[in-house]
Amino acid sequence: MFFNKKTEISIDDRLKHIAFIMDGNGRWAKRRALPRSAGHKFGVNSLEKIARICFECGIKYVTVYAFSTENWSRPKNEIDSIIDLLRSYIKRAKEDNTLRYIFLGDKTVLDEKLQDMMNELEEITKNNDKILNIAFNYGGRAEIVNACNTLIASGKNKITEADITNNLYTAHMPDPDLIVRTAGEFRISNFLLWQCAYSEFYITKKLWPDFDKAELKKAIDSFYKRTRRFGGLNKGEE
Ligand code: IPE
Ligand code: IPE
Ligand code: MG
Repeated sequence: MFFNKKTEISIDDRLKHIAFIMDGNGRWAKRRALPRSAGHKFGVNSLEKIARICFECGIKYVTVYAFSTENWSRPKNEIDSIIDLLRSYIKRAKEDNTLRYIFLGDKTVLDEKLQDMMNELEEITKNNDKILNIAFNYGGRAEIVNACNTLIASGKNKITEADITNNLYTAHMPDPDLIVRTAGEFRISNFLLWQCAYSEFYITKKLWPDFDKAELKKAIDSFYKRTRRFGGLNKGEE
């Protein structure tokens, strides 16, 4: 285990990839009699802090679920506020240029200028080694269908698991070891359906804007108490 003095969190290479279902922004705002957009704004603060702590600990891949293919059914003003937050986030990330950004999801339905900003951020940061995946207009089912269509277009008529894995938005990345969901719901909400086959889950009632270093430590401590078997048996279990 590698103990990071600054974060006071120990990790080792069993935890290469952590993913967050950042839920509860709306409830956080409601409790404060604020508009839902304020919840999303504070949610972005949490994201910036938590991603930085994860990378300081030595985690190599962080994935966050920012906007699902189903979130288009929300009121237009809420969607607009989330897209505005994405725009300002991209501007800051571009200035900072310390992380590598990869967007998971279908960009093609977004405003062209926003697509350009997203593509530019991916391009500018492509040589940084800490990877922050932002799942935006992401759906796990759509991702699998998209991979299958790419394979059909390439002329394949028989496909393997590796073919699908290598044509997902997360191609060539390890699957998430740990998926954290805030705000207490025990569901996957169409997130990383293929990649979560052997992920460990951690669910907390804390709302995403309140999720801090202490909460992250609890999630990671819980991860290290799990026995992962991947369908097999560990030493001493035979
Ligand atoms: C998660 O927070 C962010 C998005 C889905 C964009 P919610 O907005 O879902 O917050 P709750 O679940 O309503 O509290
Ligand atoms: C999941 O949260 C999506 C994101 C965090 C972006 P939702 O709030 O959309 O999930 P449900 O509707 O409660 O399943
Ligand atoms: Mg929600």
